Amino acid sequence: MTSHFTRVRAQSIALCEGLQPEDYVVQPHPDVSPPKWHLGHVSWFFENFVLAKHVAGYKLFDERLNWFFNSYYESQGPRIMRSSRGNMTRPELSVVLAYRKHVDAAITELLESNYPELKEIEKLVELGCHHEQQHQELLLTDIKYILGTNPYFPAYKREDVGTSDTLSRTTEEVVLKGEPGSFNKKFEAIKGGLHTIGHQGEGFCWDNELSVHKVYLEDFRIARHLVTNGEYLAFMNDGGYERFELWQMEGIEWARQLETKAPLYWQRNEEGDWMYYQLDGGLQPVDPLHPVTHISWYEADAYARWAGARLPTEFEWEVACHQLDPKVSLLQNWSDSRQYQGYASPRGEPQMLGTAWEWTNSAYLPYPRYPRLEGALGEYNGKFMINQMVLRGGSCATPKRHIRLTYRNFFQTDKRWQFTGIRIVM
Ligand SMILES: [Fe+2]
Repeated sequence: MTSHFTRVRAQSIALCEGLQPEDYVVQPHPDVSPPKWHLGHVSWFFENFVLAKHVAGYKLFDERLNWFFNSYYESQGPRIMRSSRGNMTRPELSVVLAYRKHVDAAITELLESNYPELKEIEKLVELGCHHEQQHQELLLTDIKYILGTNPYFPAYKREDVGTSDTLSRTTEEVVLKGEPGSFNKKFEAIKGGLHTIGHQGEGFCWDNELSVHKVYLEDFRIARHLVTNGEYLAFMNDGGYERFELWQMEGIEWARQLETKAPLYWQRNEEGDWMYYQLDGGLQPVDPLHPVTHISWYEADAYARWAGARLPTEFEWEVACHQLDPKVSLLQNWSDSRQYQGYASPRGEPQMLGTAWEWTNSAYLPYPRYPRLEGALGEYNGKFMINQMVLRGGSCATPKRHIRLTYRNFFQTDKRWQFTGIRIVM
């Protein structure tokens, strides 16, 4: 456990290498947190939920930090407004890094002690590591927003990132077999009937992946690949953003407010060609063969209707992923499988895990017998089960060991700064 903890903690620091001091502090959008805040918050999580609760006489590094780094835990007292995180030039980065070191040393000491309830501690530390991995994905997507909305469009430039546990290949390298406009060519038939949903076995899962239960599905066909930029461009060129009959009411009103009627990070150059910002390489021409990402649920839903299809429910998605051998998709995404570098997916694998978070048509709700965690950690997932939709699959920014077939991500319908994509079903 100690080596896992150390590895996860080091990865957060590694992801920030190459940032300039100013990049650590800004918050260009209320949904985007400054990298400095992420580094402090994940340490606060370990300090409050492990050290302060289980180490007799533990002294907080600095109790004023609770005010800055508590995200949304009502049970842990007052905190700064989320939208104010970027206004804070104190605590400075050096203090946050010292805080991390302090917490690292205390957790390591605890894990290597003969503490009588070590099993329970290990479980909490494992949960804290999964929490930190969630924030590693947020670090990458927030850094993308910070750099990708800057007029210089600086590249993130971290060629060695993939040697550890997270972003090794961004979606632009996860290329699909198929031509733009080929959405109707490759579908997999999935048999209906009663299917088992939810996390099974001993390994870690969040409370929202439980309990295991049955759902009944009709037969359906699911697209073998994610919708590509080329396919999405066909929707745009067909007046997709203006055709109200394709959208939900809320969606068309949202689309009408868009300055650029295209996915986030897209803009036209002087010649009128579509460009988009990518973490590696900065601003570049949109590649029609890459999966479309950074779209809202509204856009995914409208696209699916335009294509004569619909979005899958989260249950259809889970059953399909079970059957379509997700391990192959995992292989494609990570740099430890160099043979896939360049033009990936030589056999047209379904890419269900680790390419883009796939919007589903399922509201984020508790499963039957949902075992909401007790105490402060009960605030982690359960209180967000309102007005959000489920996403499945994990993205190219999700740490590999954090991806699970039963994992339920959730966001509001207008959010698109994560690597969100579309898979359609018939
Ligand atoms: Fe968090």
